[in-house]
Amino acid sequence: TILILDFGSQYSHLITRRCREHNVYAELMPCTTQLKDVKFKPKGIILSGSPYSVYDKDSPHADPAIYELGVPILGICYGLQELAWQMKGTVEKCDHREYGFAQVQISKIGGDNASVDALFEGLGDEMQVWMSHGDQLSAPPPDFHVIGYTATAPYAALAHNSRPIYGIQFHPEVTHSPRGKEVIGRFILNICGCRRNWTMEEFIGKEVTRIREICGPRGRVIGAVSGGVDSTVAAKLMHEAIGDRFHAIMVDNGVLRLNEAKQVNEMLNKDLGVNLTVVDASDLFLSRLDGIEDPEQKRKIIGNTFINVFEAEAAKIEAVAAEEEKNGAAAKGRVEWLLQGTLYPDVIESISFKGPSATIKTHHNVGGLLKDMKLKLIEPLRELFKDEVRSLGRLLSIPAPLVQRHPFPGPGLAIRILGPVTRAQVAILQHADSIYIEEIRKAGLYDQIAQAFAVLLPVKAVGVMGDARTYEQVIALRAVQTEDFMTADWYVFPPEILRRISSRITNEVAGINRVTYDISSKPPATVEWL
Ligand code: XMP
Repeated sequence: TILILDFGSQYSHLITRRCREHNVYAELMPCTTQLKDVKFKPKGIILSGSPYSVYDKDSPHADPAIYELGVPILGICYGLQELAWQMKGTVEKCDHREYGFAQVQISKIGGDNASVDALFEGLGDEMQVWMSHGDQLSAPPPDFHVIGYTATAPYAALAHNSRPIYGIQFHPEVTHSPRGKEVIGRFILNICGCRRNWTMEEFIGKEVTRIREICGPRGRVIGAVSGGVDSTVAAKLMHEAIGDRFHAIMVDNGVLRLNEAKQVNEMLNKDLGVNLTVVDASDLFLSRLDGIEDPEQKRKIIGNTFINVFEAEAAKIEAVAAEEEKNGAAAKGRVEWLLQGTLYPDVIESISFKGPSATIKTHHNVGGLLKDMKLKLIEPLRELFKDEVRSLGRLLSIPAPLVQRHPFPGPGLAIRILGPVTRAQVAILQHADSIYIEEIRKAGLYDQIAQAFAVLLPVKAVGVMGDARTYEQVIALRAVQTEDFMTADWYVFPPEILRRISSRITNEVAGINRVTYDISSKPPATVEWL
């Protein structure tokens, strides 16, 4: 395992990602972590970048004990300045922030038989990198030598003379540093000597064993499934581990996509054999949403109603379990656990070294659920990134179209219907959305788009059909490309695809006579309209 100490850079999680892409397990921890609190023995430590300057009064510093551990250390950007600062080098403020591409010249070391340092071995004489820093070194600490430099940064990369301690000014973890992933590979594989044993095949075996140990021979686990990748993969993994002692619950909230509840039932229950109950609570949800236009209120109502319905269903399962126990039947035990499909980015979000960031929208998740039942949480995906979950899904025989599916928000179509939510409005949007997605899939564009969906606008416009005037609603289409959904750009469709989609929607969906395409990026817009 590689320990990554997070000093709050926006790229910290990418370092973790790159290590994992080399099949080496890496874990991100706040920079303030004391070594004695780290439960594993790291094979190497990486110090991330940071928005701070080492000289700031409140700037964060690493536990000096890391230098005594004897394992290789790599400081990136602030991480370099941090280790230089701790080892008595000199860091100075630049007049301007250096931000953008740079060419690093890789130094040849050692006279006639000059060679490059192990960190850059085989990477050529120079490489393009991405810089983003305010401060830089003006003198290296004693016992360090230069292994790379740029036109403006004479100490862009340093190595200790005798110990495996490295610092680099640039960011190898971002894709703008095309060979950066290799630099990280040199460090973790060649210098730290990590084995490449982080694979999803190994993960399944280990996780199934771990779940069995945690759950013991009796006791049931319940969990919500939504039809999305994460909950489906988590459910299938639980099923592999404990079979029918896992109960999946799908709540049909009336604002799902077309035929979604039915499809999830067929796939999860019929094809994958997962013990699933689908609860049709659409009447309850739609009645509570009646007349509501405010997006945050819609989210709140759906979140709360979801909890009510899920709790009621969990209580039914628990009642059956209690009855079986009383009768002394070959019982599977009581309901003791709640499955959550938490992913590593959520975990990072909660452990990262960051100030509070503003809430733009309250995304609903199954937070403090089922307090009264005192269920313990089980989170089999909490170490995984999204693409790791996808590979896991493929290995667990989950059908490819589901594994690659775009994300779908918890409040569903309710936040894509811009006025009040009614059954009739839901039906219109479901129909339009299904045509849109079907055509995107047919054109082979689905996997190039991060998220695509239709939105139903609460306005009417005039049109003409045959000889008659129509006065009907408008559909807006949205498709975005994004890395992380924090920023997003609208997707450029070939015009003939948009033409076909528009023509099908206006012809086939009763109540729609106009289709528009949303060409707003995030920011200033958001991905969803509400
Ligand atoms: P925004 O609209 O915030 O969307 O740019 C970014 C991503 O978050 C999804 N999203 C939600 N997901 N509950 C969710 O589970 C929500 O309330 C919610 N709102 C937005 C959105 O679909 C996009 O993927």
